[in-house]
Amino acid sequence: MFTRRAIFGICALALAAGASGTQAFAEDTVKIGLILPMTGPSASTGRQIDAAVKLYMAQNGATVAGKKIEVIVKDDAGVADTTKRLAQELIVNDGVKVIAGFGLTPLALAAAPIATQAKVPEIVMAAGTSIITERSPFIVRTSFTVPQKAMVIGQWAGKNGIGKAFSLVTDYAPGLDAEKWFKDAFTKGGGQVIGEARVPLANPDFSPFLQRVADAKPNALFVFVPSGFGAIFAKQFVERGLDKSGIKLIATGDLPDDDILNGFGDAAVGLISADPYSAAHPSEKNKAYVAAFQKANPNMRPNFMSVGGYDGMHVIYEALKKTGGDADGTKLVEAMKGLSFESPRGPITIDPATRDIIQNVYLRKVEKVNGALYNIEFGAIDQVKDPGKSQ
Ligand code: PHB
Repeated sequence: MFTRRAIFGICALALAAGASGTQAFAEDTVKIGLILPMTGPSASTGRQIDAAVKLYMAQNGATVAGKKIEVIVKDDAGVADTTKRLAQELIVNDGVKVIAGFGLTPLALAAAPIATQAKVPEIVMAAGTSIITERSPFIVRTSFTVPQKAMVIGQWAGKNGIGKAFSLVTDYAPGLDAEKWFKDAFTKGGGQVIGEARVPLANPDFSPFLQRVADAKPNALFVFVPSGFGAIFAKQFVERGLDKSGIKLIATGDLPDDDILNGFGDAAVGLISADPYSAAHPSEKNKAYVAAFQKANPNMRPNFMSVGGYDGMHVIYEALKKTGGDADGTKLVEAMKGLSFESPRGPITIDPATRDIIQNVYLRKVEKVNGALYNIEFGAIDQVKDPGKSQ
């Protein structure tokens, strides 16, 4: 049964959607609701995306196609019910024409029905489970998909004589995507997964799982943890002495996240990972991005989440240019389909068929450069589509 509040919410969303076609065009301001985990275990994702969105607007101005852009930032603390409530309030009370952010998969999924009902674009700047874009025709993703990364590191491990690997992932949707796509690519390349473990998302304690890894004696340990959780893993990995065990550490780029990599210490040196973004990506566009980001945020290094936010703003700006400032949600999503441009991470495209991101995925090795740890690229798979969509 619907509660009175739910019925009010649905009616209000329907009204908001109905009004958007005529009113949006006439208004001078286009509001964007940016919903991020600014507190809680994923706060680094919120901090990174917020900083990148501010940088984009400082560089490109707060007016596009004759419309003033106003970003309203809300903290969902990583709690899905809060994300849903904030999305609803932003659309109904504040009149936002776009919702954006979404630091974790459950948060992106919670907002999907709201986006569909209100016909408001949902720009996923962070979350990475394959299925997300299929949950609403109004979702456009500018981050990554976990299968893109897990498949590429799995292929590398298969080709590079790893032989036997143990898989350790966080126990929620993107972790299961990582486990599946790593295993698929690795076994196709002749590798064998000799053990699998899933660690709870809430208050993770890796120690008992790391003991299992040590006992299994694989040649490599494959790891997926979401951004913000790598520091706990790194501490326990070293405490358990796994850095001295000869077991090679391989991962999606979520573990050696630029936001925390230096805290990892020397145990990270040599770690091989796959990811669409490294702060050390050697393009001119990225050098300028990192310099500008660090000038505006002196104690931060931009990570892969930051470019999801930066490029997400570019997608919104370019779509508004194409519609001549019309913020009707259906028109904006149509205008976003097929957008293709140079990001700090390299060339990216919004797949017109899936609204998901197509991008290069780089192979990287952690190295010390002038005393600091960086993910140094040594290979790339160009223009990877989400492999999760093809099955
Ligand atoms: C997700 O919840 O989809 C997610 C979050 C952080 C990551 C990767 C995936 O680093």
